[in-house]
Amino acid sequence: MRVKTKQRLQVRESIEIAQGVWSLVLQYDAGSAPDTVVPGQFVGVYPRDGARLLPRPISICGWDEKDHTLRLVYRVVGGGTREFTTLAPGDAVDVLGILGNGYDLAALTGRRVLLLGGGIGAPPLLELAKRIQLENRKAGRDGSVTSVLGYRTNELFLSEEFSQYGPVVIATDDGTVGVHGNVIDAVREKNLSFDAICACGPMPMLRGVKALSEERGVSCWLSLEERMACGVGVCLGCVAKTTKKNAHSKVNNARVCTEGPVFNAADVEI
Ligand SMILES: Cc1cc2nc3c(=O)[nH]c(=O)nc-3n(C[C@H](O)[C@H](O)[C@H](O)COP(=O)(O)OP(=O)(O)OC[C@H]3O[C@@H](n4cnc5c(N)ncnc54)[C@H](O)[C@@H]3O)c2cc1C
Ligand code: FES
Repeated sequence: MRVKTKQRLQVRESIEIAQGVWSLVLQYDAGSAPDTVVPGQFVGVYPRDGARLLPRPISICGWDEKDHTLRLVYRVVGGGTREFTTLAPGDAVDVLGILGNGYDLAALTGRRVLLLGGGIGAPPLLELAKRIQLENRKAGRDGSVTSVLGYRTNELFLSEEFSQYGPVVIATDDGTVGVHGNVIDAVREKNLSFDAICACGPMPMLRGVKALSEERGVSCWLSLEERMACGVGVCLGCVAKTTKKNAHSKVNNARVCTEGPVFNAADVEI
């Protein structure tokens, strides 16, 4: 297992699942596949164009430990992600990782977990929903997963896959599907009950989610997004403000790529 090195993987599948949103499945050789992948961890995908030096951080949306395949779901934003859309089955792609720290599965087992995914924040929560269900079954515990997914318009993606693991509530900015508003509006409108929250999405949403967790007095984990260069903790380009002093830096910050991207909401100032 070489988890923090650059590896060449083969593209198994590359398909557009909604306008500008792509699902990319990458194949490891059995000998080089990671032993474990924690939902919320990510990889750095290198563009082939040498002018784009930095790996693009993309969360793990799915991990099949039998097939040794990694699924990434990304939105086309700029040159790097646009280039990824040209990948075809059989192509090789260089990937750094598995990187970062994911969600605390042990703390979520046996609980009524609310997953809040804003836009392209939803993909890592799909692997999390799967793994929470698996852990509950293994432990013989009665936990549950409710997913609230927010989209801009009726161009939904992954929502049917989430429904394999529990109820799904949709919110759209334009009101064309589900609740008119954001994921927090949907939680309030549907009067959802839960005792832990895991969220991934844009920063204004995460601030609202942190406030919601404080209001309800429940544990909450947030996946933060910062611009990244090295992706492995060296350049300090991705720090977030923390409530406690960091063991590495001795100041109130943490590297999102290394200590995160998933943090306990109580530990970060956002
Ligand atoms: C931990 C983490 C997980 C992520 N997971 C996903 C995911 O699952 N799906 C998805 O669609 N997007 C995800 N992103 C955002 C994704 O990394 C950017 O959209 C992508 O890097 C844009 O690259 P680009 O070349 O297309 O855009 P450009 O704007 O041309 O990129 C220029 C540079 O800025 C960096 N950059 C641009 N936007 C971001 C951003 N939002 N976050 C970090 N770096 C950025 C790029 O990596 C590149 O180095 C994640 C970001 C982080 C930090
Ligand atoms: S990206 Fe370099 S330290 Fe996080």
